[in-house]
Amino acid sequence: MVPSIPMKQRYCIAPSLLSADFSRLGEEVRALESSGADWVHVDVMDNHYVPNLSIGPMVCKAIRPHTGLPLDVHLMVKPVDGLISAFAEAGADWISFHPEASDHVDRSLQLIKDHGCKAGLVLNPASPLQWLEHVVHRLDLILLMSVNPGFGGQQFLPSSLQKIKAVRALIDRHQQQGGAPIVLQVDGGIKVENIAEIALAGADCFVAGSAVFSAPDDDGKYRSIINRLRHAIDESRLSRLEDHAASA
Ligand code: DX5
Ligand code: ZN
Repeated sequence: MVPSIPMKQRYCIAPSLLSADFSRLGEEVRALESSGADWVHVDVMDNHYVPNLSIGPMVCKAIRPHTGLPLDVHLMVKPVDGLISAFAEAGADWISFHPEASDHVDRSLQLIKDHGCKAGLVLNPASPLQWLEHVVHRLDLILLMSVNPGFGGQQFLPSSLQKIKAVRALIDRHQQQGGAPIVLQVDGGIKVENIAEIALAGADCFVAGSAVFSAPDDDGKYRSIINRLRHAIDESRLSRLEDHAASA
């Protein structure tokens, strides 16, 4: 079975390998796992759908034996279907794609499921929520981009917060009506300084690339930065509970 969000904490930190040291990816993935990361986010760029080129299924296959953590593959490619099969065979657990890059969104989602992976749809900052309307029952994950896709190290777009709240409400409604759980993931510009407000807006999975990989511990691991990200989320959740209690 594909691993999901750890039940006890109810959210997950997914460092993006895009900012890792590509000359020693196996070591970086092992360092993430021993530092307490929940998932490993794999950004796949094709220099066509986005203006950058990153890694392909062979690299995914090469890192797979280095970790037991879920590999969360974010496809920024067009067309998508051929690479869905290739990444599933390379050991991906979660596969997400941008609906604008697929001719048949429903078919691409089904292809991901046929390979036994969890399926996600990714919305760019300017993509409307209407993309979700007829496929929400098919989704295990909705990824909201809080930067335009293609590069690490960009600034979080504040307009994303309203969109996160809107998708949170949509997911909650879906689940109240008996729908299966859907992870709300946010990707781009997430740091210790802003992760609390992103959590408060309703995200439950946080992708962070430059924030994690620019802050190694002395031993080359990432425990301190991952703990600081977690701590900021926990604090924000605590303050929300206290606000609820005070207003009850
Ligand atoms: C952007 C990628 C992101 C990015 C995150 O196209 O999808 O995953 O690497 O990097 P930071 O956290 O540096 O914005
Ligand atoms: Zn990504």
